[in-house]
Amino acid sequence: MNKRLVTAALPYANGPIHIGHLVGYMQADFWVRWNKMNGQDCIYICGDDTHGTPIMIKARELGVTPEQFIAKSHAEHLKDFTDFGIEFDNYSSTNSEENRRLSEEFYIKMRDAGHTTVRPREQFWCDHDKMFLPDRFVKGVCPKCSSPDQYGDSCDKCGSTYAATDLKKPGCSICGAPPSLKASDTIAFKLSDFRDFLAKWVPEHAPEEVANKLGEWIDGDLLDWDISRDAPYFGFKIPGFDSKYFYVWLDAPIGYVSSTEQWCNSKEGKARGYTMDDYWKPVGAGGKDAEIYHFIGKDIIKFHCLFWPAMLKTAGRKLPTEIFVNGFLTVNGEKMSKSKGTFVSARTYLDNLDPQFLRYYFASKLNSQLQDIDLGLEDFANRVNSDLVGKITNLGSRGAQMLGKRLDGAMAKSLDVEGLALLTRSQARQKKIAEYFEARDFAKALGEVREMADEANKYFDEKAPWNLIKTDPEATRQVLTSTLNVFRLIAIDLKPILPQYSDKVAALFGEAPYKWADIQKVVLAGKVGEYQHLATRIEPKKIEDMVEASKEEVKKVTDTRSNPQAAAAATAGATAPTKAPAAAVDPGVLDIDTFNKVDLRIGKIIKAESIPEADKLLKLQIDLGPLGTRQVFAGIKAAYDPATLEGRLTVVVANLAPRKMKFGMSEGMVLAASDPAGGGGKDLFILSPDNGAKPGDRVK
Ligand code: 2FM
Ligand code: ZN
Repeated sequence: MNKRLVTAALPYANGPIHIGHLVGYMQADFWVRWNKMNGQDCIYICGDDTHGTPIMIKARELGVTPEQFIAKSHAEHLKDFTDFGIEFDNYSSTNSEENRRLSEEFYIKMRDAGHTTVRPREQFWCDHDKMFLPDRFVKGVCPKCSSPDQYGDSCDKCGSTYAATDLKKPGCSICGAPPSLKASDTIAFKLSDFRDFLAKWVPEHAPEEVANKLGEWIDGDLLDWDISRDAPYFGFKIPGFDSKYFYVWLDAPIGYVSSTEQWCNSKEGKARGYTMDDYWKPVGAGGKDAEIYHFIGKDIIKFHCLFWPAMLKTAGRKLPTEIFVNGFLTVNGEKMSKSKGTFVSARTYLDNLDPQFLRYYFASKLNSQLQDIDLGLEDFANRVNSDLVGKITNLGSRGAQMLGKRLDGAMAKSLDVEGLALLTRSQARQKKIAEYFEARDFAKALGEVREMADEANKYFDEKAPWNLIKTDPEATRQVLTSTLNVFRLIAIDLKPILPQYSDKVAALFGEAPYKWADIQKVVLAGKVGEYQHLATRIEPKKIEDMVEASKEEVKKVTDTRSNPQAAAAATAGATAPTKAPAAAVDPGVLDIDTFNKVDLRIGKIIKAESIPEADKLLKLQIDLGPLGTRQVFAGIKAAYDPATLEGRLTVVVANLAPRKMKFGMSEGMVLAASDPAGGGGKDLFILSPDNGAKPGDRVK
């Protein structure tokens, strides 16, 4: 058998793992575990995807270095995966030396083969932050439906997609300032050079729906792909350029290769005898027989089915054997929602529920087709309670406990006629179950398992061993032995989905952790050990608690972002694009670089008005010289008569992300002193500079 290398998409390091992510990682984990128990040499490779602007900005917000930030994410992600029973052979980071070297190698081959171009391209530039702004860092009014506060690539309200330059009233999402257009040289990968190759390769290696979708692209423009980003950027520098970096999506999939390399150099990897090139070079070009399988979500097919094969081909590396694509997760039939508490992080799930339940539920819904799957929370509890606990686990607990308590734990030496027939029928299903696992049709495999459990429960109930034992203990022993043998088969079948459960059952029978070959055995005459608890029903309250905790988590993130003190330290807090809530990193003491990011300016209050409906707020218009006039809501009503403020100079935080307040936008913050012990109501003192300072001066 060829060796198999399986990968799951590298999670982005800017936020926690959530249950939507888990579908793909679990699906791959089920398959890898199936392969391994079936005697297949198989490794499961993954790691964190760590580069790019969002990570740079988020680290900045938190006052840590990007390296510190990604180290924390790495540890958290790995812990989440481990606690969900997702077991990688290697979990690396794209910010590794192996990945740097390989990224350079890929790029140089792409360049030297003439597949790259360098051309000037106009992009949004923020003069305040001194950086080019990725689309997700530009916000403005949607050009189609005029909804405000939309990102530069697509509108959340009407769903249309567009170029950032089409946005109306664009603003930098970090500082709020309007960006300008600026040209810079961009390195692009000429995807159109691979049209013929992709037209043939994609339908042979990706699911049909994906190939059809991508076919439209392949037959269409196949535009050049920008693989460079200008400084400042967190990533790898591009050889031959001073301040250009590889775009995060260039080095992300190379992470599959570098993570394999790390594993091959580990003790376990060395013992298995293949080098990274053995896996990742074609046979005949320095590689060996090995199949490569990528599990990905449907949102990243373009990267994995177009760019990645073209990159691998150019670099002289092996192409994937197959790309498996999963759909999205909905909860209760809808997109996961933060406000409804259905955007559940892996950790919040784990704080409330048993991870094996989600593994069981996802497996019961997953097949080899590309389709979205739904986590109906009520259905989840019902299915786990009725199938896993009610049908399957009860079979083992009833059988083993009765045998232990009443018959000294000793199994019969032979089975009764019906028991033998039952076991034979269960054994006859195993070939099909193996085929379903091989084809990643976990739902069908579990369907067979449920039917086996149904039949065994029927047999058990018909034989009524709780009565039979009064008259015929040896016949009872046979009934329990047949039942337990079916239960044992089920535990073997469940191993890819519920490995710990399966291991406990193996221990019950005094056996080593199961391999697929163990289906052939029938256990007779031995003794069963003490029954260990396997699974308890889900209490609906636990699901409610999880939903509530998820709502609270969102509130916590939002509160930190709208808290002025936290926001002053985290200047991009309110609007920085995130895929998921921010990881809670304690920034500790403020380092000088972080402090320097706070843009303090002298402002002249040109107008001050009281807001009758607000207890604490004054509305100020503040002249910041070259930065223009800003509207700021300041909580100093109790301390100042507005008329006395007009004409005064004071100190303003000028790069606070604009915040929408009840009475309008607040575009900065006025600093005021107060006794830390006091409530800060009346005893507030705004700061004034000495004579000579003028609006717009920087305060250092
Ligand atoms: O979509 C994502 O979250 C990416 N981080 C996936 C990367 S997969 C691979 F290319 F690294
Ligand atoms: Zn800016």
